[in-house]
Amino acid sequence: DWTMAAFKDEMIAKIRQQVGSAKVICGLSGGVDSAVAAVLLHEAIGDQLTCVFVDTGLMRMNEGREVVDLFRGTYNIPLVHIEAEDQFLGELAGVSDPEAKRKIIGRVFVEIFEREASRIEGAEFLAQGTLYPDVIESVSATGGPSVTIKSHHNVGGLPERMGLKLVEPLRELFKDEVRDLGRELGLPDAFVGRHPFPGPGLAIRIPGEITKQGADLLRKADKIYLDAIREEGLYDAIWQAFAVLLPVRTVGVMGDARTYDQVLALRAVTSTDGMTADTYAFSHDFLSRVSTKIINNCEGIGRVVYDITSKPPGTIEWE
Ligand code: XMP
Repeated sequence: DWTMAAFKDEMIAKIRQQVGSAKVICGLSGGVDSAVAAVLLHEAIGDQLTCVFVDTGLMRMNEGREVVDLFRGTYNIPLVHIEAEDQFLGELAGVSDPEAKRKIIGRVFVEIFEREASRIEGAEFLAQGTLYPDVIESVSATGGPSVTIKSHHNVGGLPERMGLKLVEPLRELFKDEVRDLGRELGLPDAFVGRHPFPGPGLAIRIPGEITKQGADLLRKADKIYLDAIREEGLYDAIWQAFAVLLPVRTVGVMGDARTYDQVLALRAVTSTDGMTADTYAFSHDFLSRVSTKIINNCEGIGRVVYDITSKPPGTIEWE
């Protein structure tokens, strides 16, 4: 009989065989794949594993803290936590082109990760949460079985440059199986079932220039929206839901005064793989309640709109 428990033991044996007594570094992104890879490795090799978590400052409300609490607190896994918000926002200042933002974030991420990883003495392996679909994709993209690095930060070339060998314990798994394995390893359901979140994070949900103030405002509004979705019991029926802070100001009224504040767009889609998507059909009542709550609580946002564009022609993200 095939069970996830037996499969887990098999994978643990394989990791021990590959790694021996060497030290391993694993980058955490805050996402499910890297977290499952890290917890599995920890079960296999204990403190031979050190995790590195680079917090870009572009994650959602409390997300960085949750990752740290989970790994240091619950699992007691050695974790290097780098708070790099200032550096990321500094490098992004004045940049509004979406691809330029992605490149900057990828570059800064690699610089910081490489610096921190090189401080971990005696490391021989870099662990990655590469899944089977990523393996297939990299084969078809390059015409051969190259070890293209799957990472939402595009950490291409990093292991070679650092002289590290790769360990990819999730290489044979699909996303659903990774979730099952995560549960088998005791990761909380709420963590394992999380919506996908892009590596550049809030940077691509603030069209135009990014400021600390904008990121903080978006975090606050996004949390109100996602909390409402959870309270309504809709979270698991949705592939991804998030808010986008638009660089547009519009007129409103508040009491006797005229306001001139930003627009917030809400997005929620259903999908099976992110390649195509449909907008989620919330009730009008739900959307009005969320809109009122956001405007009452988020100073600087004066209007809320709901994005009803499917993919194609729209992408899921706005940038
Ligand atoms: P789009 O917007 O292209 O998104 O329909 C499809 C899926 O990919 C995610 N996405 C990204 N993920 N880095 C990532 O790691 C990125 O630059 C990026 N852009 C989009 C998006 O959230 C959706 O799940």
